[in-house]
Amino acid sequence: MKVIILDNAQEIGKAAGQLFVDAVKENPEIVLGLATGATPIPTYEYMYKAYEKGEVSFKNVRTYNLDEYVDLPKEDKNSYYTFMHEQLFNHTDIKEENVHFLNGNAEDVDAECLRYDEELRNAGIDIQLLGIGRNGHIGFNEPSEAFTKTSFKVQLTDSTIEANSKYFDENPMPHYALTMGVGSIMTAKQVVLIATGKEKAEAMAAMINGDVTPQCPASILHFHPNAVIFMDKDAASLL
Ligand code: GLP
Repeated sequence: MKVIILDNAQEIGKAAGQLFVDAVKENPEIVLGLATGATPIPTYEYMYKAYEKGEVSFKNVRTYNLDEYVDLPKEDKNSYYTFMHEQLFNHTDIKEENVHFLNGNAEDVDAECLRYDEELRNAGIDIQLLGIGRNGHIGFNEPSEAFTKTSFKVQLTDSTIEANSKYFDENPMPHYALTMGVGSIMTAKQVVLIATGKEKAEAMAAMINGDVTPQCPASILHFHPNAVIFMDKDAASLL
């Protein structure tokens, strides 16, 4: 695991963004696993600005998002579908048919998870971007007794609901989500985790210095052959 500590969130966005831009330039048909949350916003901004400057095209890039809320309409302002379009896709030439999400409104969520996993297996993720929850979650894989293998429906923890409910001013935040499993995340050829801010310091200390345990799902990245961790000084303050 390669750990890179930079000054602030903007620097992380620049470094992670450049990594993705370089990867897309090298392989214009790359398959990217993408994440939501506040942390990747500067990374996505860097990526679409590179597109606007004519440095890179996303025309043949395919993307798979990590997770989506259950029973939240796709068009809701807080869906991860909306987030990705607003923060990245709408600013680039990526094709709508090339962006993929778990469908949190599927009638049969088990069938939906199987469908997504099969697509993931066939596509093969080249680079997976991850944020990290305050409790060490990746995607929506919350701390638990065992590492999850494949996509599944998860009940969100109080810590995650508290952290994310600030975005839900009109409707209450969903308490369930569909997420890729830790096993699927680990199949990516490269994993890039980004963390910024003091509220991530405990999670980063547990992930980097603690045991590899499903109680801190991000700790599994110690076993990934090509994981890069970018964090700012605040997130690294308890290392
Ligand atoms: C959500 C997402 C995660 C993300 C986490 C942290 O729970 N499912 O993928 O890493 O939030 O979000 P933020 O970057 O806003 O702290």
